[in-house]
Amino acid sequence: MAHSSEDAISDPAEFWEARYLTNRGESGQMWSGRVNATVEHEVEGLAPGNALELGCGEGADALWLAAQGWTVTAVDISATALAVGAAQAARDGVADRIRWVQADLATWHPASEFDLVTAAFLHSPVELPREAILRRAATAVAPGGRLVVVGHGAFPPGSHHDHDADTPPLPTADEVLAALDLPAGWVVETNTLVDRPTKWRDGTDVILVDAVLRVRRGREAAN
Ligand SMILES: C[S@@+](CC[C@H](N)C(=O)[O-])C[C@H]1O[C@@H](n2cnc3c(N)ncnc32)[C@H](O)[C@@H]1O
Repeated sequence: MAHSSEDAISDPAEFWEARYLTNRGESGQMWSGRVNATVEHEVEGLAPGNALELGCGEGADALWLAAQGWTVTAVDISATALAVGAAQAARDGVADRIRWVQADLATWHPASEFDLVTAAFLHSPVELPREAILRRAATAVAPGGRLVVVGHGAFPPGSHHDHDADTPPLPTADEVLAALDLPAGWVVETNTLVDRPTKWRDGTDVILVDAVLRVRRGREAAN
């Protein structure tokens, strides 16, 4: 199997910076630039307010949220990825609605509360205390606000990870919910696996599976 230049890197900031720098497609970016369909499905219809996005990458979800009227704080460890998002925000005329924050979520603490906190595909092959980050994120949800966590519900078809003893299994939405250990008064609005038809970069059709959790903090609930 071919190895990429970042395979030997274990430091999260260095790993993701190398990944974003070396995996750009012809567009100059690594990801498609389109909002994650599952995030769109979970968020459309909610009244816009202020949102926090964890591990925003090149910012496609943040840009979409801003276009829907949200004010967004978008956090990622990679300055290169954030620069892609910021440039697009300027082109889209939504720069004033997105604050880009370069930070390691392992140690970063939100300083205020948000009507919406999202984490889409916050996965990493290097150190990432995902459960702790998501628990902390739940404490940043304002009364009446929501936390949306979308992750891989299964390894992609043909992935070697299915047979790889070193790769931990992907958490189900139930396991994410249990790890959040939410106090009374939170409501589970979505807890499911969804099929997501998409295309690989080479145009091949594939169906991926997303694990989706959406929880709402009741007006009286602690966090
Ligand atoms: C699989 S990508 C998903 C990116 C984006 N949410 C999306 O759906 O396109 C995971 C993202 O998490 C970021 N990330 C990984 N570890 C991080 C950490 N410790 N602190 C902040 N961001 C991190 C990476 O830089 C990367 O952009």
